[in-house]
Amino acid sequence: MDRNVRRLLNRVSVVFATIATICLLYLFHHSSRSCFSSSLTHTHLTLSRSPFPKSSCDAFSRRVSSLEARSTKFRSSRSYLRRVHSLSASVFDPIRSLGLLSNSSHVLCVSAGAGHGVEALQEFGVTDVTGVDLIDYPPLVQRADPHNLPFFDGVFDLGFSDGLVGALYPVRFVSELERTVRRGGAVVLVMAKEVAKVEEVVGLFKRSKLLEVRSVNLDGSDMNLIIMKHNGTKSS
Ligand SMILES: *[C@@H]1O[C@H](CO)[C@@H](O)[C@H](O)[C@H]1NC(C)=O
Ligand SMILES: *[C@@H]1O[C@H](CO)[C@@H](O)[C@H](O)[C@H]1NC(C)=O
Repeated sequence: MDRNVRRLLNRVSVVFATIATICLLYLFHHSSRSCFSSSLTHTHLTLSRSPFPKSSCDAFSRRVSSLEARSTKFRSSRSYLRRVHSLSASVFDPIRSLGLLSNSSHVLCVSAGAGHGVEALQEFGVTDVTGVDLIDYPPLVQRADPHNLPFFDGVFDLGFSDGLVGALYPVRFVSELERTVRRGGAVVLVMAKEVAKVEEVVGLFKRSKLLEVRSVNLDGSDMNLIIMKHNGTKSS
């Protein structure tokens, strides 16, 4: 009786060991195939079809395409180019007409995203444009916290952002823009009309006065273009 039980247990463990070995062999075979052979040759397909990796193997193959290559691809997409051209026509053209922007201006784009503002300015002929955001997006946007900009006071002629509404601390966001723009320079904000009242936005500024508000249509949305002129003096 006792011997029978022991024999049965032995048999059961042999069966389990066999199943485990088969599973391991299967996993090993499967993972080596999908990680190293097929997905490498089809990297491009994997990337465009699945926005998120389905397994760690997918994540491995995604790294093959560099961030820069993906950025280049995105920056040639139709929606991106439409946004760039829209910014040129609706925002930077008026700013230049007001004499606040020239080819030699030092310009800072804060919350620059994928760099549409930087690109629009460069296309315009402005050579010195710096784009920053919380997440870098090479080659046009470097990593920097909009609430704590890594630049000296008054080094820019123009500060531009369409990202104030997404800022965690709007007061801090605006004060950093004002700090880094020189006296006589301008801070230009673009925001959807329904999200913020112009007076509230203007109230965030301590060293600038409102020069002009314009209604602009940016890529199909009604926006306010708020142009603040830096006057150098800090109000109490
Ligand atoms: C600014 O640069 C653009 C592009 O290089 C050029 O077409 C334009 O004439 C320049 N404007 C001035 C005022 O120099
Ligand atoms: C500069 O702007 C601030 C804020 O709008 C204002 O309080 C201050 O009086 C202005 N100073 C000058 C010299 O215009």
